[in-house]
Amino acid sequence: MKIDGVAHRSIWLSENGWSFHIFDQRKLPWKLEIVEITNADQAAAAIKDMWTRGAPLLAMTAAYGLCLALREDASDASLEKNYKKLLETRPTAINLRWALDKMKAAVQPFQGKDRIEAAYKRAAELCDEDVAINSAIGEHGLLLIKALAKKNKSVNILTHCNAGWLATVDYGTATSPIYRAHDEGIAVHVWVDETRPRNQGALTAYELAQHGVPHTVITDNAGGLLMQQGKVELVFVGADRVTRNGDVANKIGTYLKALAAHDNNVPFYVALPYTTFDASLESGMDIPIEERNYDEVRFIEGKDGKTQITDSPVSNPAFDITPARLVTGYITEKGVFSNLSAAYSDAA
Ligand code: MRU
Repeated sequence: MKIDGVAHRSIWLSENGWSFHIFDQRKLPWKLEIVEITNADQAAAAIKDMWTRGAPLLAMTAAYGLCLALREDASDASLEKNYKKLLETRPTAINLRWALDKMKAAVQPFQGKDRIEAAYKRAAELCDEDVAINSAIGEHGLLLIKALAKKNKSVNILTHCNAGWLATVDYGTATSPIYRAHDEGIAVHVWVDETRPRNQGALTAYELAQHGVPHTVITDNAGGLLMQQGKVELVFVGADRVTRNGDVANKIGTYLKALAAHDNNVPFYVALPYTTFDASLESGMDIPIEERNYDEVRFIEGKDGKTQITDSPVSNPAFDITPARLVTGYITEKGVFSNLSAAYSDAA
């Protein structure tokens, strides 16, 4: 991804070879602030408080967080303690557990200095894998956009939340085909859901603007009307966990977009890497849904600060479940599938 024309990843190891950097996404799109993470507690806070976010990226933050923990204390007890601490930061995205399990398996055969080395090596590999996977998702999803592309007319794609490069190490999942289409000269326009209460739509809009992709931010309830008016050709969303039957946990509000898409015959695609597939669960109803701080609903926050909008009781579920029957297809690194068992039979 490019910021002001300069290539970046969303997470990277410092020149000192042990701490790592992320963007403080709470400050975007108003301020591009890079944070150095120097210990596991800070990594856990960065995930929990959403300085960094998005299923694949929070998993990579945990992987490097575990490296930092082992650097301070490489014992088995430290490994277990910090694995647990990082895992407990956020409950819904399965990528977090996946990355921590991969890290644990990679370091367990070693002790001391060798264990620390193995940890950093594995974390770097996981980041590189994420980039390759998202690039492949872009390649496969591009075909869906190409099929709808007509001369002198944009393909209008609606997206919810941020499943872009700020949610991954690079490219994003749902946005990866969009960037690729734009780079190939296909006219695309993106309807960007605002995504209350954390306004991840502002992050998507920031990314699209940096890449020069035409887009329009809409309120979370506008998508249905736009679909009725024939102004949406495709819906592309990301996922935090997809179960064996194809149910999808993603940012709260995704389900309502899927219902509206179904009612209006608009194809609804979920982009996901295999790291988001949870073969241990049959149905989406078994996925734990994160309930976040009520102040996220009570207050709205913007460029000029924070203001309270209600003092009534509130509820703040951060994700919902879109049943498989509403999903037209899954865009994966292996291709586009209407049924996930073909894509991930090896993971089951
Ligand atoms: O709460 P967030 O911002 O971490 O939620 C992010 C999403 O729901 C994304 O759509 C999902 O993680 C896919 S990111 C490639």
